[in-house]
Amino acid sequence: MDRTARISGFHRLSVSERLGKLQEFAALSDEEVALLNRRAHLDIETADRMIENVVGTFELPLGIATNLLINGKEYLVPLAVEESSVVAALSNAANMVRSGGGFFTTSTGPVMIAQIQLIDVPDPFGAKMKILERRDEVIAIANEQDPVLVSLGGGCKDIEVRVLDSEMGPMVITHLLVDTKDAMGGNAVNTMAEALARHIEAYTGGRVLLRILSNLADRRLVRARCLVKKDAIKGGESTVDAILFACAFADADPYRAATHNKGIMNGITPIVIATGNDSRAIEAGAHAYAARSGRYRALSRWEKTAEGDLEGTIEMPLAAGLIGGATALHPLAKVSLKVLGVTRAAELSEIMAACGLGQNLAALRALASEGIQRGHMSLHAKNIAMMAGAAGALIDKVAQRLVEDGKIRVDWAKKILEEFSRKS
Ligand code: MEV
Repeated sequence: MDRTARISGFHRLSVSERLGKLQEFAALSDEEVALLNRRAHLDIETADRMIENVVGTFELPLGIATNLLINGKEYLVPLAVEESSVVAALSNAANMVRSGGGFFTTSTGPVMIAQIQLIDVPDPFGAKMKILERRDEVIAIANEQDPVLVSLGGGCKDIEVRVLDSEMGPMVITHLLVDTKDAMGGNAVNTMAEALARHIEAYTGGRVLLRILSNLADRRLVRARCLVKKDAIKGGESTVDAILFACAFADADPYRAATHNKGIMNGITPIVIATGNDSRAIEAGAHAYAARSGRYRALSRWEKTAEGDLEGTIEMPLAAGLIGGATALHPLAKVSLKVLGVTRAAELSEIMAACGLGQNLAALRALASEGIQRGHMSLHAKNIAMMAGAAGALIDKVAQRLVEDGKIRVDWAKKILEEFSRKS
């Protein structure tokens, strides 16, 4: 049977009904469902081996975005996030995008850059040439550090050498370009850079200082595109035009671009966390890439087609892996990957880019028409109700009253709670 991520009314189901649908979609075992249904997924012994000075674990809600159609494949997307309306916004945007056939993605392949900093060289341009003359030897030494990666077809494929003019004088920066296959690859490339330090010193007579990957992973780019038929957007072509103005604002102004890009990361970071990847690395790469022209700009573009429909595109670095690190250790990260049904790191990164673009669409559509607060605050009302002390069935009742009264504030929620307790 063909499976679909278009599950109408998913948000109205109970948690256990949703789990039933998810189990069916992703062929989860009863154990995997039990794991999702359990508290404290990460046992304290595992947590204690992951970082230092552990005193506990910290949980986040895990939600499922529906309706994602990417390169013709149906996806339910797990999002670990604290912010209300992110999951609903992505599901809604993905539904709009289906009007144009879903998202279409490509990527350059998982090539990471490791940097080796050489200082104390009187002849930086000569040093650059001396390193490049030994390109094959440099690649061979790098690859000796990771025979497993090489046996899988990955490893160091090329080098580049730059002379950098810095406030401390010229320095020579060697880049190792390493295909890390399905790993994020941080450890692999750092090991290669460290192993090469003494060789680079021997070739040049200089001194190697830093040896570390670059989070500006601009050889590991992902791209996504989507088309939204104007009739599938509330407000039609006038909303399309308003979105173009919103996009132009972001591209012209770093103050707006930061928020625009934050909205994109709303679709990406929660998947990064749900799959045990490094959110700081991916955020750093995204923002550095947004500033690559010398000015911080929007990561996405929205255009109007000849037919008056809305077309969105995004290109950004996305260093996410399927193996290693927390992805291998966190039990829920493995379940998230199974829900996504991904088999390659590139596919995972492309899903993230598509969801970033989808989240951006949802935000711009709302901002360019009724504003963000209506949708945002009605979901946020439940949080406010809980903050005021509501529990169980009272959460929804208080939240509904907050929305009706148009006062989504903790003090107001407390008043409503008092009112309810007087009545009961
Ligand atoms: C809120 O988390 C994200 C937005 O601010 C994004 C945007 O302004 O584009 C709504």
